[in-house]
Amino acid sequence: MGTTGSPHYPRLFSPWTVGEVGVPNRIVLSPMTTGFGFEQGAPNRQLIDYFEARISDVGMAVVAFGAVSPEGRVEQQVPWMWRDDAADRLAPLAAAIDDAGTVPCLQLGHGGRQVSPVVIGEDPVAPSTLKATAHVRRTPRELTTDEAGGVVAAFASAAAKAAEAGFRAVELHAAHGYLIHQFLSAEANRRQDEYGGSTTAARSRFGSKIVAAIKDAAPDVALLVRINGSDLTAAGATVGDARAAASEFEAAGADGLVVSAGVYGSVPYTIPLFDDPEGIFIDLAASVREVVSVPVVAVGRITDPAAAESALNEERCDAVAVGRALLADPEWATKSRHGHTADIRPCIGTVEGCAGMLQHGDPISCSVNPDVGREATARPEPGVLNGSVLVIGGGVAGMEAARTAARLGAGVTLVEKSGELGGALRLAAATPPLRHLAGLAGWYERQLDRLGVEVRLHTEAGPSLVEAAKSDHLIVATGAATEVPVLDGYDLLPVWTLESMLGGEPSSTGSTQLPIRIAVLGNGRRALAMTLWVGDRGREAVAVTGGRAGVDTSGLARRALIDRVAQADTFIDEAAPLRVTPQGLEVLRNGEVHLLECDGVVIADPTRPERPRWLADSAEEPIVIGDAREPRGIGPAIAEARDAVRALSAAG
Ligand SMILES: Cc1cc2nc3c(=O)[nH]c(=O)nc-3n(C[C@H](O)[C@H](O)[C@H](O)COP(=O)(O)O)c2cc1C
Ligand code: SF4
Repeated sequence: MGTTGSPHYPRLFSPWTVGEVGVPNRIVLSPMTTGFGFEQGAPNRQLIDYFEARISDVGMAVVAFGAVSPEGRVEQQVPWMWRDDAADRLAPLAAAIDDAGTVPCLQLGHGGRQVSPVVIGEDPVAPSTLKATAHVRRTPRELTTDEAGGVVAAFASAAAKAAEAGFRAVELHAAHGYLIHQFLSAEANRRQDEYGGSTTAARSRFGSKIVAAIKDAAPDVALLVRINGSDLTAAGATVGDARAAASEFEAAGADGLVVSAGVYGSVPYTIPLFDDPEGIFIDLAASVREVVSVPVVAVGRITDPAAAESALNEERCDAVAVGRALLADPEWATKSRHGHTADIRPCIGTVEGCAGMLQHGDPISCSVNPDVGREATARPEPGVLNGSVLVIGGGVAGMEAARTAARLGAGVTLVEKSGELGGALRLAAATPPLRHLAGLAGWYERQLDRLGVEVRLHTEAGPSLVEAAKSDHLIVATGAATEVPVLDGYDLLPVWTLESMLGGEPSSTGSTQLPIRIAVLGNGRRALAMTLWVGDRGREAVAVTGGRAGVDTSGLARRALIDRVAQADTFIDEAAPLRVTPQGLEVLRNGEVHLLECDGVVIADPTRPERPRWLADSAEEPIVIGDAREPRGIGPAIAEARDAVRALSAAG
C-alpha cells in the first residue's frame, strides 16, 4: 500500500500533489528498463510480479521507457506504445500498481540516436546527423520537420493510450541523451528549422510542443518531465541550461520535473557508481527548483531515507526517485517507514547485476538480490528446511547460505577461521573505491544475529568439528585465494599477495615496510582496486595487467575503476609480467622485454578456489558454493548460495 505517515521520516511519508493527482508519499520508484517482462511490447505476469514485490509503501511507481515509435526503442523489452492495442495490453500492469495504492506512472520516450540499429532494425534518427557521444557508433539520419511533427503526435497518442490503460501520470523522458534531450542539446542539434536555434529556449521547442500535445491528449494525467540537471560532459548542457529548459517545460504545461543527469559516456554516469556520493544530483534538483513552481523530484544514488528526509526538509526537492535501492531491497520503503533502516540490504553500486546486464543484452537481476525478475517463486521465502546446517566459511556465500537456511527454519552454525565475517567483501572494502562493501558485510552480520545463527569466529573447521556438529547438511563456502603465478625472482624483491598485503603480513623477503614503487599484478577488479589502495598511501602504483584491465567486471564499473586509477595518478600497463629482478619487474610489452622499475610487487589476480584439503578424504558430501566452487564474485556467490539452500528445502 502506498502509505502516508511515518514517525521516523514524516516528510518522506507525507502526501504531495503533482498536477491534479494526489500521491500518498514522496517516494517514487524510478523507471528502470528490466530486459524482461514483455511479450512483443506487452507486459506479462513476470513484470507485474516485479512491480508488486517492490511498491509497498511507494508513492508512485514509474514503468520504464514506453517507446512511442518502433525506431525509438532503446530495448526490445519495453512497452510498445505505437500499437493500437497498447492501452488494453498495459491495463493489467497499471491496475496492479493502482490496486497497491501506488500511483501508476508510465515513462514515454524515444531514443533518437542513442538506440542500436540491432534493436530497431534500421538506422537511428536524430535532430542532426551527429553520432552519439558513446556506445552507439552508427551515424543517425536527420528527421525532417514533418517527421519531427510526427514524433510529437506519437508522444501525444502514447500519452492518451497510457491514460486509457489506467496510468494516472506519465513521465516524459527528456534526459540522458535520448531524442528530446538531443533536440535540447547544442552539441546534438544543428537544425535550421523551427526546432533548432542558438538558445535553450529555441531548442526546447520540440520538447515543449510534446508537453503541450500530451496535456491536450491526456488532460487528466499528471505530466512529469525528466530532464538533465547537467549532461556531465565537456560540451554538454549545464545546470544553467537545465534551469532554462525547466522554465520552458513548465510554461508549456508540465506538472512536475524529475532532475537527473548524464548521457551515454558521461562521468559520472546517469547511474552513479559505488563510490559516488549519496544523493549526488540533489544539488542540481535544488537549483532547478529555484526557478519553477511545480514539484521537483530528485534522483541519483538516493539510498538513505534520513538523507532523503533532510533534502525534503531543506526544500531542495519535493520527492525522491529511488531506483537500485529498491532492486537491492524491495522492502526499502517499508523498512524506512518503520525506521528499520539497519535492516535495509544495501545496494553496492557496482551495477554488475543490473545495468551491466542490459549492456550485454541480458535481463537485469541484482548482485545482492538474485530474486529480481523471479519474484513470484521467491517471495515469501519458499519452503521449509528442517534439521541443522553447518556452513564453513564466513564470506558472502557462506553468510547468504546461513541467512537463507535460518529463514527457512533450519538451525544454523557458521564457522569462520578468521576473526571477522565478510571474507573477500572485507578485503575489497579495504580498497578506496569499494569501501562501502563493508556495509553489506555489516548487514549480513546483523541478519545472522537476528536470525539466531550461531557464528563461531577463529574456528578452523576440520573433520572432527564436522563430525561433532552432526549437522544434516554441510555447506562449504571457503572462498578463493590469489593464484600466485610461476615467476622467477620472488626472493629478489618484496612480494605480497593481495591478502597478505591487506592483512599486514610480511612479504616474500620478510619485509613489512610498504615500498615506494609497487607493481600490482592482475587484470581483474581486485588488481585495479589494489592499485588504488597503494596509491591512496602515497606510493607509486602501476597495475600490470597482461592485457585488457578490469575484465571481470561490468562495462560501467570497469570504466569507472579505470577512470579512478587515472585520476589517482596511478597507472595501468598492459604488459605481461615475466620475472622479478632486484631492480623491478621484467615485462613483455609489444613483443619486447622491458624493465618496469619498482621495489615491491603485489599479486592480486587471478584467484583460485580454496577448499579444505581434508574434504577430499571426508565421507561427508558437502555442497560447495561461491568462489570455493569457482571464483566469480559477489553476485554469483549470493545467487548460488541462496539457490543451493532453497534446493535443499525443496528436496527435503
Ligand atoms: C537497470 C537500470 C535501468 C534503467 N533504465 C532507465 C530507463 O529506462 N529510463 C530512465 O529514465 N532511467 C533509467 N535508469 C536510471 C534510473 O531511473 C535512475 O535515474 C538511476 O538508476 C539513478 O538512481 P538510483 O541511484 O536510485 O538507481 C535505469 C537504471 C538502471 C539501474
Ligand atoms: S546490481 Fe549492484 S548496483 Fe545494481 S541494484 Fe544490485 S547491488 Fe545495486
